[in-house]
Amino acid sequence: MRRRLFERKAMYSPSQQLIHLGLGFMVSQALRVATDLNVADRLVAGERSVDDLAEETHCHCDALYRIMRLLAAEGVFSETSARRFQLTELGAALLSDAPSSPRDLIRMMNREPYLAFAQLTHSVQTGLPTFETVFGKPRFDWLADHPDAASLFQQAMIALSQGANEAVAEACDFGAFSQIVDVGGGHGQLLSEILKRHPHLSGILFDLPAGVEAARADAASFPPQTSFVAGNFFDAVPAGADVYIMKKVIHDWNDEQAVRILRNCREVMKPHGRVLIAETIIPPGNERNTIKLIDANMLVVTGGVERTESEFAALLAAAGLRLERVISTARAISVLEASRA
Ligand SMILES: C[S@@+](CC[C@H](N)C(=O)[O-])C[C@H]1O[C@@H](n2cnc3c(N)ncnc32)[C@H](O)[C@@H]1O
Repeated sequence: MRRRLFERKAMYSPSQQLIHLGLGFMVSQALRVATDLNVADRLVAGERSVDDLAEETHCHCDALYRIMRLLAAEGVFSETSARRFQLTELGAALLSDAPSSPRDLIRMMNREPYLAFAQLTHSVQTGLPTFETVFGKPRFDWLADHPDAASLFQQAMIALSQGANEAVAEACDFGAFSQIVDVGGGHGQLLSEILKRHPHLSGILFDLPAGVEAARADAASFPPQTSFVAGNFFDAVPAGADVYIMKKVIHDWNDEQAVRILRNCREVMKPHGRVLIAETIIPPGNERNTIKLIDANMLVVTGGVERTESEFAALLAAAGLRLERVISTARAISVLEASRA
């Protein structure tokens, strides 16, 4: 009888499914708290009582229990006996040393972007980001004033990359080129992966001053042919290279801003040069795809947009560039290769 009751509950009606969807922010915030508290790492040696976890993390025991129970219902932990929890396969992906752990992405998104999303209606009515309304400055200007948040942002970008840097470096043929600029290169992992595979190439990591300083502090970990240049890609990018690559940069900006960045690359690249845009292309159809969530994040947080292939082609044409081909990679990221039109 108890079992039948449980099975009935597990089969959600449309209205119950909608309630679960509508309360999704509670799950994401619970997950954020669990990652902030490093609960996964604390369970790696085996199951533990919530009293024990609460004492170690200076939390209220019953309150932590209720959040752990919520996350157990989502499959992140498992309550093995009264108030004792263990890690599940899903939760193990939150471990700080798990390959491409999503923990910093979950922590970052559930801070400022989460607060900006409370004003989503404003974005939907105006087409404009709400971040500036809520925080007083555009996203990247705000990050420049908040080094801890900026560092978490860069860690989150590493988490979001999930092997994409290696996949892009593998998929593109740089044999005919001699110098590459990674525009908005951030932590520099993509440039490193490319230069490691192509010792004949020299590379410039180009980003805002704070981003470049953070990367330069770790200069020893970069291939020797790397140099670091700080600047603003809306003003200019380093001149005279034959490849300008930008990964997950164009999606941060609206069409007018994106065209400005692309034009700045076009104007200073060598005549035979290439612009490479590495982005996840919005696929047609109704399938669940994380890129559709990231697109909503762009709308609210930066005013950017995730694009379809034809939208990218139009953007490139507006910048005086021609889409030559779209290179698939082993990950959910493609490289759009463009030349001077
Ligand atoms: C979404 S991140 C992508 C970083 C990196 N390419 C990656 O794939 O992880 C966007 C990058 O653009 C940089 N950026 C933003 N505004 C910029 C500007 N005006 N000039 C140069 N870089 C900028 C940010 O600092 C950040 O590193």
